[in-house]
Amino acid sequence: MGGSGKKITVVGAGKYGSATVQRLAGWDIADEVVMTDIVEGLPQGLALDMNQSRPVEGYRTRVVGANDYAATAGSDAAVITAGLPRKPGMSRMDLLAVNARIVRQVTEALVEHSPDVTIIVVTNPLDQMTRLASDVSGLPRHRVMGQAGILDSSRFAHFIAERLGADILEVEALTLGSHGETMVPAPSQCSVAGAPLTELLSPEEIGALVERTREGGAEIVGLLKTGSAYYAPSSAAAAMARAVLEDQRRVMPVCAWLTGEYGISGVYLGVPARLGAGGVEEVVELPLTEQEQADLHDAAEAVAAKVSELDGLAR
Ligand code: LAC
Repeated sequence: MGGSGKKITVVGAGKYGSATVQRLAGWDIADEVVMTDIVEGLPQGLALDMNQSRPVEGYRTRVVGANDYAATAGSDAAVITAGLPRKPGMSRMDLLAVNARIVRQVTEALVEHSPDVTIIVVTNPLDQMTRLASDVSGLPRHRVMGQAGILDSSRFAHFIAERLGADILEVEALTLGSHGETMVPAPSQCSVAGAPLTELLSPEEIGALVERTREGGAEIVGLLKTGSAYYAPSSAAAAMARAVLEDQRRVMPVCAWLTGEYGISGVYLGVPARLGAGGVEEVVELPLTEQEQADLHDAAEAVAAKVSELDGLAR
């Protein structure tokens, strides 16, 4: 469309960041998508390349590459991808100290130029980096959220579809909890062409798919050897930015601030939430099984324990 008057910033021009920019630009939902990175020439070169695809792809959104944040001023939404990805054998948590420093810096710079921005964090370890960005930004909690649940749910959906030979578009899957060891895939909320997953597969068979989902990111890191996944992750992050930009009010699993929902308070955790122009407009409470509910509480405790480690880190 162009002329929407909307602006999105994507921080980090690595594979995750640039794939997110490309998806957002191609949807033509913003006038500008600004991509920032500390590497000189990288965001500018990628922007030039992407802009030259517009006549072929048929969209108008301009991509702007920049090394400083002046160009990001007045952004409606921002996706923070900056930070290091995992190497084979690393857990997301191994990135805590190095990525905390980066997320702190970019969040400060971002909010200085865009005081009304809604922030979507994707940097790992996800649940802790979302909390950090929220604290540093000074924004209301509902305006800062993290991406993980859409990605993990779509990985789970893929494995279910492959296992059953089902149409991927007829699979509904949901994961909650952390983006890590305490991820909580929720089979009670999964279905294939309307049939409950729990009636299609045995608990053992579902358990194997759950385990592969929980290790879904590591499986790709192990294969790629130099970096982590970015096609499905960028789909997820871009979908969240779009829901905010277009005020879709759609329910998606995201890392959101809890204030008593599911009996949990004061922690960022993966839950279904309604996303709109105000960011997270509502956390949706689903009827989970007792086991899923207990796993969600364990996840909240594990995330909170690691958040307290953040306070001890050098700035
Ligand atoms: C993954 C990384 C992006 O799950 O966290 O692939």
